[in-house]
Amino acid sequence: MLDLWPTTLLAQVDSSVGGKTAVNHKKGKNLIGAFYQPELVLIDIEALKTLEERDLRAGLAEVVKYGIIRDAQFFSYLENNYKDILNLGDGLIHAINTSCRLKAEVVEEDERETGIRAILNFGHTFGHAIEAVTNYKELKHGEAVAIGMAAAARLSFRLGLCKKDVYERIEGLLVKIGLPVRISDVSFVQSRKFSGRDFFRALELDKKMIGGKIKFILTKDIGRVALQQLDEREFSLDLNGILN
Ligand SMILES: NC(=O)c1ccc[n+]([C@@H]2O[C@H](COP(=O)([O-])OP(=O)(O)OC[C@H]3O[C@@H](n4cnc5c(N)ncnc54)[C@H](O)[C@@H]3O)[C@@H](O)[C@H]2O)c1
Repeated sequence: MLDLWPTTLLAQVDSSVGGKTAVNHKKGKNLIGAFYQPELVLIDIEALKTLEERDLRAGLAEVVKYGIIRDAQFFSYLENNYKDILNLGDGLIHAINTSCRLKAEVVEEDERETGIRAILNFGHTFGHAIEAVTNYKELKHGEAVAIGMAAAARLSFRLGLCKKDVYERIEGLLVKIGLPVRISDVSFVQSRKFSGRDFFRALELDKKMIGGKIKFILTKDIGRVALQQLDEREFSLDLNGILN
């Protein structure tokens, strides 16, 4: 029986694997959910031939995430082959295959997110807040995650966790793929009015906030991330970098 047939790159490399099923609440996206594993996921790259290029780029954001959190060699592969992947060349299958394998390894280790699975949220804490303040309308999920990953990498550098070139490589690859790395990169969002306060309120609603501290995934190096509890002063270090 066919359980899942993902038709976007993002669904093929991320949402179809791992069994997280969630519904939206008026207070935010994916706030109520359950774990339910499909028996089979069938990925047919033919479907991507009709996908808008913007959706393809947004899906690649999650592919880049796997390199950052778990596989430096894969990250280098993406630096050298992102054009081929965007052109739906031979690199595409390798990129999808590697992404699914890396995600499956993490989920097999920690299905219910009591530990390591949280690394899959790299870039998503800021990303979800960005989606919320832009009313889930203006940015694709992968675009918000790209801004969130660049912000998390910048923050990691500012907190002294990684070298500057780590942050520069991450931001560089996202820019080359054609993804936004700041809200102001997305011209149609620039005119929107939201304050740093709105952004904080969105962060507070995210399920990762506990007692004024937020669980945050930071990068130590390409392929290596760490979970840290940050307080408001620490995670607001880069607020201007995200909003402007
Ligand atoms: N549960 C999870 O683990 C998880 C993980 C990542 C993302 N998500 C969620 O998935 C959602 C993002 O979904 P998305 O970007 O994959 O898809 P989407 O459903 O938003 O689709 C994007 C657009 O592409 C169109 N489309 C889809 N497949 C097509 C095809 N083959 N050819 C032409 N057009 C096509 C759709 O109609 C839509 O207009 C977000 O809401 C995100 O939060 C969930």
